[in-house]
Amino acid sequence: MCGIVGYVGERECADVLVDGLKKLEYRGYDSAGIAVFENGKIVVEKSKGKLQDLVDKMAKEKKPEGHCGIGHTRWATHGEPSDINSHPHGNKRVSIVHNGIIENYKEIKDFLLDQGYGFESETDTETVAKLLDYYYNGNPIETIGKVIDKVNGSYALGILFRDFPGVLYAVRKDSPLIIGVGENENFIASDVPAILKYTNKYILLEKNEIATIKEDSVLITNEEGKVIEKEINEADWTMDAAEKGGYEHFMLKEINEQPNAIKTTITPRIQDGMPYLEESGLTKEMLKSFRRIYIVACGTAMHAGLVGKYVIEKLARVEVTVDIASEFRYRNPLITKDDLVILISQSGETADTYAALKLAKERGATTASVVNVKGSTIARESDIVIYTHAGPEISVASTKAYSVQLSIMYLLAFELAYVKGEISEERCRKLTQALVEIPEKLEEVLKLKERCQFIASRLINSESLLYIGRGLDYALSMEGSLKLKEISYIHSESYAAGELKHGTISLVTEDMPVIAVATQSDLLEKTVSNIKEVKSRGAKVTMICTEDVDIEKDIANHLVKIPKIYDELTPLLVAIPMQYIAYYTAVLKGCDVDQPRNLAKSVTVE
Ligand code: F6R
Repeated sequence: MCGIVGYVGERECADVLVDGLKKLEYRGYDSAGIAVFENGKIVVEKSKGKLQDLVDKMAKEKKPEGHCGIGHTRWATHGEPSDINSHPHGNKRVSIVHNGIIENYKEIKDFLLDQGYGFESETDTETVAKLLDYYYNGNPIETIGKVIDKVNGSYALGILFRDFPGVLYAVRKDSPLIIGVGENENFIASDVPAILKYTNKYILLEKNEIATIKEDSVLITNEEGKVIEKEINEADWTMDAAEKGGYEHFMLKEINEQPNAIKTTITPRIQDGMPYLEESGLTKEMLKSFRRIYIVACGTAMHAGLVGKYVIEKLARVEVTVDIASEFRYRNPLITKDDLVILISQSGETADTYAALKLAKERGATTASVVNVKGSTIARESDIVIYTHAGPEISVASTKAYSVQLSIMYLLAFELAYVKGEISEERCRKLTQALVEIPEKLEEVLKLKERCQFIASRLINSESLLYIGRGLDYALSMEGSLKLKEISYIHSESYAAGELKHGTISLVTEDMPVIAVATQSDLLEKTVSNIKEVKSRGAKVTMICTEDVDIEKDIANHLVKIPKIYDELTPLLVAIPMQYIAYYTAVLKGCDVDQPRNLAKSVTVE
């Protein structure tokens, strides 16, 4: 939800800002803008639309020239996407970029209107810019301190004061912000990939710490101006990881990165052939002691949690409740201090998941997060963090992050089942070994590309689609359906196959393709019956099953066969044809695969 960058150094600032914003466009792409000090004045350029529209505009008109500035890519919340509502906001004296939401902006606006201020945009951000101007007393740190005392909500701000050319100010609360530390140049950014081209060293800014950033220094203070010593971190993500690397889209690249992402995620968590989550702080004693497990997340991450529920309950016989974070936080859940609450989040910044974490902590539960972005808010604030090692996921539609989240769910289920005495050591070893072999199997499944491309070509003219499955296959269907609709804009629903005849089957006609997942041997016959029910009503069925299944001819119109592995683990393989089908459907329809309309990758607002 909005990305911000800032630069001070010897390079041409506008170029560095545009470079950084390119890496942050996944956070929002409704508009883009930059503000740069040019001959002591703050010069602003902004434009509705994607970053490329701003680049084209600057090529046609004028690119601000200078060595210190801020930039923004927007996911609109307050005010439609338009030139006027684009960031930076401010006036001749102050200019800001903002990621987050200012909850009391109306109150601030009314106050400032009374003081004679005028407003151009409908944004909450402009009120902060004008409030900075109102409190400005010649001392930026004091001014920022006064403003953050008055604003409620979430923010990461990059700020320029006309009186301090060559100095970049930054502050954050509940929205991410890092400070990139280079040689005679420094940066701010919402996320590490935005600075990787220039440096892999960064500082994590904590709540309400104020950064004063010059070409050759970074000073962090609190609101009273007291200096705070900060640690400099080194990112282990490389710049290549945030590039397309020859693929047409990030999504396709990320689909193909799954074998390696899983390998890198599970290897450190397996010792002597057995799952080992202790390195993350989740000890065997703790695992044994939990009364109940909650898994809370949003979207795809929640779907990974659903797979976790099936597998943990099946193997470890521990009750697991999976919740959508935006529901969980307002439903007064029955969590106690004896429960484990697992938060799953690729970004580690999702506002609802973060709120769920805070609630779980208030109730005294143990909190464990499964997060991909190092040092993100959810990771930092949970009791235990299990990092997934997928590398940066740039495409808005999540693929490799989902697979690595699944792999952690498996390790957790195996270890829990073993420490609880529900499975023998031998079974635990076998399951763990099967997980270790998954990356190899995935390489085989990745070869199903053409098959899935063909199936996609049969879907592009549909208005609506149905995904069905039972048990783990139902959990997978939900993810397949979400992936397809979010990037191809074809409406789709996922349904528990056995539930169809309680209403939804009335939608089935020959115009509605059905994708049926049937990989669970104990449920195969039942799912096949459901497939027959929809097929006899005209639906064109694609069936995803394991290669050993001997299917009567004509059961399905199209078959996708995956290697036979333990039933529990098939979601890891099925994910790929699901992702491919969604991807190629979107490509064939000419959709913007990596940046689907109305979406942003990191949802830092409620
Ligand atoms: C869909 C997708 C989203 C995210 C969701 C949670 O492809 O990516 O549904 O899974 O917004 O995001 P994180 O995992 O960052 O909390």
